[in-house]
Amino acid sequence: SVTDLFKWKDSSALIGKFLTVNGWITSVRNQKEFTFLHLTDGISPRLLQVVIPKTLDLPVGECFSFTAVVIKGQVVESPKKGQTFELMAESLQVLSKGTNDVAFPFTSKDNHPPDYVRKYLHLRSKTARFSNTLRLRSLLTSSIHDYFHKNNFVQIHTPVLTSNDCEGGGEIFSIKPDSQKLCQMMAKEGKSEEEAYFDKKVFLTVSGQLHLEAVCSGIEKVYNFNPAFRAENSRGRRHLSEFWMVEAEMAFVFEISELLSVMENLVRYCAEYILSHENGEIAVLEKTTKGVKEHLRAILDRPFERITYSDAVKILLENTSRFQTKPVDGDDFGKEHELFITSHLGNKPTFVTDWPRHLKPFYVRFDEEKQTASAIDLLVPDVGELCGGSLREFNYDNLRSRLEAIRILNQLEWYLELRKFGGTPTGGFGLGFERLMSYLFKINHIRDAIPFPRSPHNCQL
Ligand code: 4AD
Ligand code: MG
Repeated sequence: SVTDLFKWKDSSALIGKFLTVNGWITSVRNQKEFTFLHLTDGISPRLLQVVIPKTLDLPVGECFSFTAVVIKGQVVESPKKGQTFELMAESLQVLSKGTNDVAFPFTSKDNHPPDYVRKYLHLRSKTARFSNTLRLRSLLTSSIHDYFHKNNFVQIHTPVLTSNDCEGGGEIFSIKPDSQKLCQMMAKEGKSEEEAYFDKKVFLTVSGQLHLEAVCSGIEKVYNFNPAFRAENSRGRRHLSEFWMVEAEMAFVFEISELLSVMENLVRYCAEYILSHENGEIAVLEKTTKGVKEHLRAILDRPFERITYSDAVKILLENTSRFQTKPVDGDDFGKEHELFITSHLGNKPTFVTDWPRHLKPFYVRFDEEKQTASAIDLLVPDVGELCGGSLREFNYDNLRSRLEAIRILNQLEWYLELRKFGGTPTGGFGLGFERLMSYLFKINHIRDAIPFPRSPHNCQL
């Protein structure tokens, strides 16, 4: 591949070699004696310059931006500043044409706005900007795994199909087999079609937390990196119906501060990893988005802020006139409130701790002394909530009565049982991966952080 050439340790050893390279053309420049092409493989942002002598009768007239080609030639030293070698072509095969097809949506300038490019999801990775996003996404994925492995977490593949609604929000997609015949065959007396296959209702997971907690009763530190599904009616810049979530769960967690440092270290590690492992991707990003490098460095330089829910509410109430929706003590924050809190505290990632109990799910540990839920939201500038986490209710009787009160004890007997049998106080959190993408790389719309976004009325491809 083109990228392999640039990875060669000693590029002078390449000079003189005869090679075949595959790629897509990004630009064509015609001069008197030569045609110059730039070739990409999309794997890295590096472009290979190919020189085609006009004396050779090659089909350069069929070459446009986005055309797919196979080129044979010899590596020669390049006279051009900033590149050590180029390819002198001897043969050129055009596999499929690009912009000469009138229906092709992108032009050679390849500088289309993201919402235009998003209309062509199947062609999106051809654009320089979006293929760059996907490379950064892949790098960010590695950074997450690297962080957890370095810190002795074991990765667990939690299931996509589940019978629990972990967040208790009712924002779940139910599933059933499509086959009527199968359903009828399996349906026992009184069972609905939805219950026929598994003998109970089954959903796409909203969070792997409860499964992680189960594994965490035998393995001290675990994490997952899985898709999560939410049937929310949100079409905004930070919601997807299918997103990727990174969740960590740890046993023997006694203080909420232990959780905060894992979350903070994780986000910083990712920023640091990107800065030290990227290979030109930030420069491509900065063609359209200014200041990404500075922004990543600032995340490393400044410690995160920490504030309690009640202090955050005070700040909001002092600034009521700024909001479309009036903040109310005891209500959850809206996006505008979240963004105000981070900007008020110096545009730093901010932990909000000690929440009113009724705003958080059944599993959150209740702090009797403070009379608050030991939960945390991590808010970040421009995006809002990036992570949600908590200490988990460890007291058997407390958990039992909460499960009873919301009538899910019969489904979650197994979960309650974890509090017996060598249970330990556990804590964990979930981080929205596309929101992390949005935050780190200043991606304005979450649909531009994932290859195939899903949202209400929107499941193309
Ligand atoms: O705050 P949430 O709902 O927390 C949980 O699911 C916990 N069970 C996690 C845990 O403790 N293991 O979701 C976690 C994060 C949010 O902070 C947000 O970043 C992201 O997941 N998220 C979404 N991202 C994109 N689109 C959506 N619809 C999202 N809903 C949540
Ligand atoms: Mg949350």
